[in-house]
Amino acid sequence: MRHIGILTGGGDAPGLNAVIRAVVLAAHKEFGIAVTGIRDGFGGFAEGDDGLVALDHTSVRGLLWRGGSILGCNNRYQGTTEFFVERIGAIGLEGLIVAGGDGSLTMAKHLSDTGVPVVGVPKTIDNDVMGTDQTFGFDTAVETVSEACSRLIFTAEAHHRVMIAEVMGRHAGHIALHGAMAAGADIALIPEIPFTIDGIVRAITRRSEKGRTYTLIVVAEGAKPAGGQVVVDELRTRQSGRQVHGGIAALLAEELRGHVRHEVRSMSLSHLQRGGMPSTFDRVLGTRMGVAAVRALAQGEHGTFTAYRQSKVLLAPLSDAAGKTRMVNAGGRFVSSARAVGISFGDD
Ligand code: F6P
Repeated sequence: MRHIGILTGGGDAPGLNAVIRAVVLAAHKEFGIAVTGIRDGFGGFAEGDDGLVALDHTSVRGLLWRGGSILGCNNRYQGTTEFFVERIGAIGLEGLIVAGGDGSLTMAKHLSDTGVPVVGVPKTIDNDVMGTDQTFGFDTAVETVSEACSRLIFTAEAHHRVMIAEVMGRHAGHIALHGAMAAGADIALIPEIPFTIDGIVRAITRRSEKGRTYTLIVVAEGAKPAGGQVVVDELRTRQSGRQVHGGIAALLAEELRGHVRHEVRSMSLSHLQRGGMPSTFDRVLGTRMGVAAVRALAQGEHGTFTAYRQSKVLLAPLSDAAGKTRMVNAGGRFVSSARAVGISFGDD
């Protein structure tokens, strides 16, 4: 194998640049393989050769601690599997590394099914890729949520308010659950445990009865009331052409104002969660996964993705991740620990 490509699909996540750096350095050093970067994910790949960039050790200098992706990210998939197979052949790539979430890993699986040597690297702040205990980007995002929410608690306490912080995560509540636990929030609302307004009001009342004059609620953008729907951000959905969640914190605040005597304020942490320098954990995980992906391609173990399981980076079949979503286990140990320290999920 002499020449491989790498692309970063979907939304950006802190640690992507660490993966690119590791791929380039390990490919050159261990196997003498040349690496071409493909700009703007599968969407950019469809647009022609202007989006190709040769990567060597000088191109990846200083990348380890940079957020975003030097290759750019893109959620669009213009082009069929056959089209991408042809592109890969025309460029002379003998293998492809796809760093992405479930959408990109599904495309990676389609390519692999046609015989293209592909290895996936699971990426997303949402931590919702099946088959891996953790994706890089998640740790940084949770750190951001934890820090922001810890700040909100001071104002909530000083003004005796109910503060609602909306966090990302799409269909899954990992960011909200971990962020709430780390910040010492009082209520965590996640998609996996439908809430009721009465449940939230009861949790706030219980706090008042104990003399607590404020409440911090962390709500996942995909959380929904029992029997209700997720809140969709119509503008962002129109602009991106795919369903984007957002707006539940403001709606919830409006609803709660009629039920509690506190002032209720809401805010969304939005893309702050995706930006910034990757945490130490994400730099190390990204590096380990980048190296593992190159080794997998070079040793013919393609059709796989780098999975983080019980602190080890292993290779798992792409079919373990493609088209699947890893949700929070509502009856699992994390939720149980959260409940044990008094976090309400608005369901009791
Ligand atoms: O998948 C990562 C993510 O940040 C989700 O948590 C969020 O729903 C979505 O991407 C936002 O996408 P965009 O950046 O296109 O608004």
